[in-house]
Amino acid sequence: MKSMNFGMLLKVLLLGAFVSQVDAAQSKESYTELYRPQYHYTPAQNWMNDPNGLVYADGTYHMYYQYNPGGNTWGAMSWGHATSDDLTHWKEEPVALLARGYPNNITEMFFSGSVVIDEYNTSGFGRKGHPPWVAMYTSYYPSQQVLPSGKQVRDQQQAQSISYSLDHGATWTTYDDGNPIILDPPSPYQDQYLDFRDPNIFWHQPIEKWVAVISLAKVHKLLIYTSSNLKQWNMESEFGPFNAVGGVWECPNLFPLPVDGDKSKVKWAAIVGVNPGGPPGTVGSGIQNFVGDFNGSIFTPDPKSIHDGGPPDGSLIFEDFEGNRSFADRGWVATGDFIGTSPTAGTLPGQNPVTGFLGKQLVNTFLNGDLTTGTLTSPPFNVSYKYINFLVGGGDNINQTAIRLQIDGSIVHATTGSNSEQLTWQSWDVSAFQNQSAVIEIIDLATGGWGHINVDEISFANSPATNNNANWLDWGPDFYAAQGYNGLAQYQRTIISWMNNWQYGATIPTSPWRSAMTIPRQLSLKTIDESIVVVQQPEESWKAISRSRSVLTLPSVTNIYNLGDIGKAVEIQLTFPSTEAANGKSEFGITVRASEDFSEQTRIGYDFTTQQVFIDRTKSGDISFDSTFPSLYYAPLSPSLNNTVKLHIFVDWSSVEVFGGQGETTMTAQIFPPENATYAQLFSEGGSTNDVQICISEVRSTWT
Ligand SMILES: *[C@@H]1O[C@H](CO)[C@@H](O)[C@H](O)[C@H]1NC(C)=O
Ligand SMILES: *[C@@H]1O[C@H](CO)[C@@H](O)[C@H](O)[C@H]1NC(C)=O
Ligand SMILES: *[C@@H]1O[C@H](CO)[C@@H](O)[C@H](O)[C@H]1NC(C)=O
Ligand SMILES: *[C@@H]1O[C@H](CO)[C@@H](O)[C@H](O)[C@H]1NC(C)=O
Ligand SMILES: *[C@@H]1O[C@H](CO)[C@@H](O)[C@H](O)[C@H]1NC(C)=O
Ligand SMILES: *[C@@H]1O[C@H](CO)[C@@H](O)[C@H](O)[C@H]1NC(C)=O
Ligand SMILES: *[C@@H]1O[C@H](CO)[C@@H](O)[C@H](O)[C@H]1NC(C)=O
Ligand SMILES: *[C@@H]1O[C@H](CO)[C@@H](O)[C@H](O)[C@H]1NC(C)=O
Ligand SMILES: *[C@@H]1O[C@H](CO)[C@@H](O)[C@H](O)[C@H]1NC(C)=O
Repeated sequence: MKSMNFGMLLKVLLLGAFVSQVDAAQSKESYTELYRPQYHYTPAQNWMNDPNGLVYADGTYHMYYQYNPGGNTWGAMSWGHATSDDLTHWKEEPVALLARGYPNNITEMFFSGSVVIDEYNTSGFGRKGHPPWVAMYTSYYPSQQVLPSGKQVRDQQQAQSISYSLDHGATWTTYDDGNPIILDPPSPYQDQYLDFRDPNIFWHQPIEKWVAVISLAKVHKLLIYTSSNLKQWNMESEFGPFNAVGGVWECPNLFPLPVDGDKSKVKWAAIVGVNPGGPPGTVGSGIQNFVGDFNGSIFTPDPKSIHDGGPPDGSLIFEDFEGNRSFADRGWVATGDFIGTSPTAGTLPGQNPVTGFLGKQLVNTFLNGDLTTGTLTSPPFNVSYKYINFLVGGGDNINQTAIRLQIDGSIVHATTGSNSEQLTWQSWDVSAFQNQSAVIEIIDLATGGWGHINVDEISFANSPATNNNANWLDWGPDFYAAQGYNGLAQYQRTIISWMNNWQYGATIPTSPWRSAMTIPRQLSLKTIDESIVVVQQPEESWKAISRSRSVLTLPSVTNIYNLGDIGKAVEIQLTFPSTEAANGKSEFGITVRASEDFSEQTRIGYDFTTQQVFIDRTKSGDISFDSTFPSLYYAPLSPSLNNTVKLHIFVDWSSVEVFGGQGETTMTAQIFPPENATYAQLFSEGGSTNDVQICISEVRSTWT
């Protein structure tokens, strides 16, 4: 079995369709550049980010998106536009909302938002029997000005505006008489007017009103508004912060779905972009979700959707810095500028708020700015638990801004911040120091840049504190700003995401365009391991472009099984048993987009020991443009009840998307392999994997 070349087999079986597809693609002038996705949407040229205004009407799927009409990096934000009648073949349309004053005197940009069909003309924008389409989005004003509506906006203000279309979304008229229709964030958040964005609107039949969910990005809140005419909005409630708060919250969506297909049991899901602070192991952007209930004014997350993270229950608090006592009164020895000081509140004048701390106070050595230096040393204690857990943030310098553990005068542990005011949980394993006398010291010897450290909630426990505290919609690095379609059947929830990451989005090696969208995904809610989780599957319409199906059953794979040349745009379904790691076996998976000698490759597999799917793009081709790009990513996935692991993998010219199990785990990653990296092989590390089923299909270009 092992010596057979599966690539040969595939070609013999399926010669015709495969060859003619390649010929057709090469004869086309555009959409054949080195990294040009063949079945993921990209604009012909220029920069694209968030999908906007996804709406289905009269048999056509519309997709607007954040677009720079004048260049291949972010700027002059406008709404690009594309249409499709099957969610796979897209036609790029003229720009729908062009930045006002483009190109030389831009006074308003059109940031993210959504579109509804106002069937009952609640807005009054309809004419001559045409119900209006209404777009609600964030207006970004680069400078202060008085608008035609008479409203005054401030320098760099973000406010919510509407436009309408009477020609099925082709051209749009801004509502200049009233815009912005939500000028400022509500009390007590008026100071957040620079970070108030991304309205997601939909009709909610039970209350017969429009609902808008808008993000207060920096304070990690979603605001829920309602309206009867899309012009006047009333704030109903706020949601958050919960779970992942490592960066701004933006691009929210809120929608209902039946649980396990049971329409008498409907739950709501909120999805929220977080940037930075995405899934563990990634750097930059990610999306988390919450499952709960929405009654028309309040979204209440299920307790199971909320994870406090942090230290384990039953921890012994050593010092939480609460209460009105100086460090000296707590038995801490202060030196330098910290003599006579006390713990401080979460915000200091002139400093960003410290986020993620508990209670009201913490150690913040910013004091009179970064210039202040000194040390704080705890009273001695005897180590009696296995872990010391704490929150830390601030400067990243292990020698100058750190929290350290000293035993017998030696430093045995030290932890620093990450040049961020976000506190994260950190742990020291102190099991080797049981019954020894110790002190904790907090040092700030730095005077500039990030010359301060923040510490809070020092506690003792027998297990470490965790930061892994969110329900990630996708665990890969390239999945952001997902938006669902309006205008579909009540519980049909199709989403599209931006397949890129703010960490390196502007430097990916593509030209003359930058960024692609994911394939459309159908969402549902399923009960898995007693929790209701969001599950994703590729849209059914997908199948129309996936061809040349070939199935192979392999009784046993040991080490490597060559699949040969399988091509650059393929769909792969891989099913294998999750055998115990007891026989020493650790990983099984597939290498795709590999060069003939496998020196360049992308590995997608399953780690049986930790029950995790992984994508390894450390050798995936061009990885030079960002130091964080060549990385290995993991996502949890329990085997199914019959001990089977299923991976459904979509490979394109510059990406891989993996759907694990029933779709409860997905991972999306860009890759930039060389043109001739078309080889694949199965790998089984640490032992054989038996009863492997693999199904490989060629995916036709959607541009031919
Ligand atoms: C830019 O546009 C604004 C608003 O239309 C106008 O008032 C202003 O004079 C323009 N500035 C220039 C330099 O053209
Ligand atoms: C929508 O309302 C406006 C304002 O009342 C009216 O002029 C228009 O005729 C209406 N359009 C439709 C299609 O009903
Ligand atoms: C939603 O629930 C809240 C809290 O129970 C209640 O105050 C509010 O009136 C409800 N809203 C609607 C529209 O039912
Ligand atoms: C803290 O205690 C000091 C001294 O007792 C007192 O002057 C101060 O008002 C207290 N501050 C707060 C916030 O209670
Ligand atoms: C640590 O343990 C020693 C020996 O049992 C004891 O004498 C000492 O008081 C303890 N120190 C603290 C700070 O609890
Ligand atoms: C910290 O000090 C050690 C020892 O002097 C040195 O090797 C290391 O480079 C320093 N690290 C930083 C971040 O300055
Ligand atoms: C630490 O001290 C406790 C109580 O005196 C004792 O039961 C335990 O065995 C000691 N642990 C170690 C690792 O010495
Ligand atoms: C095991 O479960 C998977 C997923 O639930 C299913 O696709 C597969 O057919 C099952 N296999 C067997 C042998 O029952
Ligand atoms: C594959 O392409 C790379 C870069 O374009 C080139 O250096 C290499 O020689 C090619 N390999 C083969 C086997 O053609």
